[in-house]
Amino acid sequence: MKKSYAYSADFDEVTEKLFREASYLGEGHNGVVYELPNKKAIKIFLKRKVCTDEGSILARTNGSKYFPRLYNRGKFYVVRDLVEGKRLDKYIRQSGLSDRLTKNIYELLLELKRLKFKKLDIRCKDIYVSGGEKLMVIDPKKAYTRKVDYPRHLMKGLNKIGVLEEFFYGVKKINPKKAIEWELKFKRYCDMQQLSLLE
Ligand SMILES: Nc1ncnc2c1ncn2[C@@H]1O[C@H](COP(=O)(O)OP(=O)(O)O)[C@@H](O)[C@H]1O
Ligand SMILES: [Mg+2]
Repeated sequence: MKKSYAYSADFDEVTEKLFREASYLGEGHNGVVYELPNKKAIKIFLKRKVCTDEGSILARTNGSKYFPRLYNRGKFYVVRDLVEGKRLDKYIRQSGLSDRLTKNIYELLLELKRLKFKKLDIRCKDIYVSGGEKLMVIDPKKAYTRKVDYPRHLMKGLNKIGVLEEFFYGVKKINPKKAIEWELKFKRYCDMQQLSLLE
């Protein structure tokens, strides 16, 4: 495996050994992710601060079924559970948005509140769907720093793939008040965006 020059990992002995069997999974703005043996994943970060922040979020979400368990952290890396399945937006494009999936998304959003997240929002590309439409979050950015009180990014993503109305309809069956609140906030947000485009 070729090692990128931008990354400098400070692996301990155990991680170093595991990393010999690593295979590439993906790369984002903050780091590169490899699969390790025993269904684990290692993310190697470019910046120490981002690593500390993400490691701390995972430490706080440990024990929640919606987040990969954290096993080990260094200054520039985090070892966590491998997340299997398909990205939420891709999954919906292929299989549609079932009532069960809407309910699981709704419950994931409740879980964020239970975990005392300030940002009650997750992007579609950070949610993975596996067997039984079980959901897992891979990249919980700014969970405890950025205040967002409704799932704006998530709705934007659902809108883009044409299932937002269906989502509202599904949430209305579970919690009509919440559905109306989200719908209003989202519409207001879109109007603001339109206005700022006209300026
Ligand atoms: N726990 C994981 N299991 C499987 N794949 C993962 C996992 N974490 C990240 N990935 C893959 O690696 C990519 C980059 O990881 P991500 O945490 O989103 O990095 P960034 O913070 O740089 O956006 C993801 O888009 C996904 O494809
Ligand atoms: Mg990412």
